[in-house]
Amino acid sequence: MSNFISRLKNKLHPIPPFPAAYIWRPDHKGEEYTTVLARLHTILAPATYFEIGSRSGGSLALASCASIAIDPQFSLIPAFHNNKPVCHLYAMTSDDFFAAHSPTAIFGRPIDFAFLDGLHLAEFLLRDFINTEPHCKPDSVIALHDCFPTDEVMARRDEDDRSRPDKPGQAEWWTGDVWLAAEALKKYRPDLTIIALDAPPTGLVLVTGLNPASTVLKDKYDEIIASFDTSPNPRDRFRAFDASLPMTATSSLVTAEDLNRLR
Ligand SMILES: C[S@@+](CC[C@H](N)C(=O)[O-])C[C@H]1O[C@@H](n2cnc3c(N)ncnc32)[C@H](O)[C@@H]1O
Repeated sequence: MSNFISRLKNKLHPIPPFPAAYIWRPDHKGEEYTTVLARLHTILAPATYFEIGSRSGGSLALASCASIAIDPQFSLIPAFHNNKPVCHLYAMTSDDFFAAHSPTAIFGRPIDFAFLDGLHLAEFLLRDFINTEPHCKPDSVIALHDCFPTDEVMARRDEDDRSRPDKPGQAEWWTGDVWLAAEALKKYRPDLTIIALDAPPTGLVLVTGLNPASTVLKDKYDEIIASFDTSPNPRDRFRAFDASLPMTATSSLVTAEDLNRLR
């Protein structure tokens, strides 16, 4: 019955096909990002987990070690706790957190594993990376979400801009332009190891080989932000970035040896 009604609705008000010009890359074919994050918790066995952007706690629930989570608008599910020995929740923006707090001081040791999934604007992710790296060790892993959008509509800067149609079934997907922060890491920090994973819906990037003492991104911050203007052709610029990072299948990151091979 409901199929019949939706077919009838489509007949009366046909959904126009999604414009090919908006498509940036093929859909990701690997395992979903939370499956990959769960596996990374097993592989890395972190003593400390740091997360920016938690919302309901879906990704936070994957950590069972001492954790810090930051979000101005938590709506946590009870499962977020997952037997963590301690979990520090900061209901504020990441900029406000770093202005007043130090992850190293809170944990009493560096961050082993971080997931940056806060505000989906390139300058925010860049700052989150700049502020997180000094609290890591060289072999810590910082995961970045949403850096491989599959179309231009989900990659819009203004989340409230609904002037273009969403790809059917993807109305809730909004990556913003955080891919530009990953592009900046690649360009300005050739010393980093950057691993791109084909995790749906919008890719997962792992950054390791960190240098907690590096000031390159901070020193070049204004220049980098100025370079975030993608007009007139964001698609071609994204495709050049996409082509610059080989996409690793999530199925080839299963064990600690796999991660060591990719590092
Ligand atoms: C995509 S959701 C996080 C989803 C979560 N990591 C998961 O995978 O289950 C992004 C979150 O970032 C939060 N956020 C927005 N602006 C932020 C900021 N400036 N600093 C930190 N978090 C922010 C939002 O409130 C939202 O809950």
